[in-house]
Amino acid sequence: MEFKRNIVITGGAGFIGSHVVRLFVNKYPEYKIINLDKLTYAGNLANLKDIENKPNYKFVKMDICDFDAFYKLMQDEQIDGIIHLAAESHVDRSIKDPFTFARTNVMGTLSLLQAAKLYWESLPEKYEGKRFYHISTDEVYGALEMTHPEGIEPPFTTTASSGEHHEAYGEDFFLETTKYNPHSPYSASKASSDHFVRAFHDTYGMPTIVTNCSNNYGPYQFPEKLIPLFINNIRHRKPLPVYGKGENVRDWLYVVDHARAIDTIFHNGKVAETYNIGGFNEWKNIDIIKVVIATVDRLLGRPEGADLDLITYVTDRLGHDARYAIDSRKLQAELGWEPSLQFEEGIEKTVKWYLENEAWMDNITSGEYEKYYNEMYKN
Ligand code: NAD
Ligand code: TYD
Repeated sequence: MEFKRNIVITGGAGFIGSHVVRLFVNKYPEYKIINLDKLTYAGNLANLKDIENKPNYKFVKMDICDFDAFYKLMQDEQIDGIIHLAAESHVDRSIKDPFTFARTNVMGTLSLLQAAKLYWESLPEKYEGKRFYHISTDEVYGALEMTHPEGIEPPFTTTASSGEHHEAYGEDFFLETTKYNPHSPYSASKASSDHFVRAFHDTYGMPTIVTNCSNNYGPYQFPEKLIPLFINNIRHRKPLPVYGKGENVRDWLYVVDHARAIDTIFHNGKVAETYNIGGFNEWKNIDIIKVVIATVDRLLGRPEGADLDLITYVTDRLGHDARYAIDSRKLQAELGWEPSLQFEEGIEKTVKWYLENEAWMDNITSGEYEKYYNEMYKN
């Protein structure tokens, strides 16, 4: 079957990647969507059960560092678009094992870029109609001051428009023009990969786009990240390890809204541009943790406040960034994207999903999912 476009999505078995794959497979039956993933500990094909038999979907188990294999895939599948999400993504792991982050995030991205360059430059039309879209993080910008406006109680910004948000917070946000200043090995590796992507545009004319998004939450997130880890721990009445004083601020976006932004930008974004993606939704960790506890307890029929005593303050993360906050007005103004969900709705959906999908969580926390797919996709 001839498809209108042949697109590789890397990291499609991970958290955000699986939402992007699902959106593209369902929305664009005329596109062939190839999910390229190494299936590390974070990759789980159970995230895509609902679309795995669709005629426009294909899974390929591959390491993004395998230049030859990827070059061959580009040729065999006549790839014209790459949406690159594969990465090592957890800050705490990067503190323990920075090499893996440099290998995958930096060398892996460079390998994809070079293979795409060689293949696209070999075609008569060269870069025309092609796109290399790199998904990055707001963490490359470093950390903002930990300031919270006087008299504003959580949830600080859930219902505020960006205008109101700026009125409350001033101008202390990450903009597309903010200077890179990464602190963790994770953000340093992502920053480096972003630079390589831009260098391929500036040097060879490759049609690249980079986006930097704030913290995502929602279904299918690996339970080492704050929200799914804490939902699962509350369910089992296990301690909730809050780093430091719990005062660090993160800016949370529902993962489906990130996937919608990626769709918009892949199709309508301007080549060589950077877009920041975020929903003006800042929370101190301790406040969001209290919301998660209250939501889990309510949905499980436990008395109000029953699990607050699970909060356990532990040693702070090394180099813990104080505050992330994205200014996404460029994306909103130029491409008309805005988040579809208010935070209250998003967190309710998220907690419900984890409580209703205990089998998914138990499969991961027991390690069974890795054994199953490793057996199925043995090299
Ligand atoms: P994730 O850890 O859930 O998934 C990463 C996926 O990449 C997994 O499926 C894994 O198997 C795959 N992968 C890892 N190394 C690979 C390799 N060498 N070759 C092929 N596949 C490999 O990550 P996520 O949270 O879904 O993040 C996806 C992307 O979005 C990352 O690039 C991350 O930096 C970026 N991002 C994440 C967030 C967030 O809040 N999670 C926010 C902004 C940007
Ligand atoms: P995380 O989900 O790891 O995302 P990131 O580090 O990329 O922002 O962590 C979100 C915030 O929650 C961060 O400030 C660290 C904090 N945190 C804890 O306090 N305890 C935990 O067990 C985890 C995983 C995170």
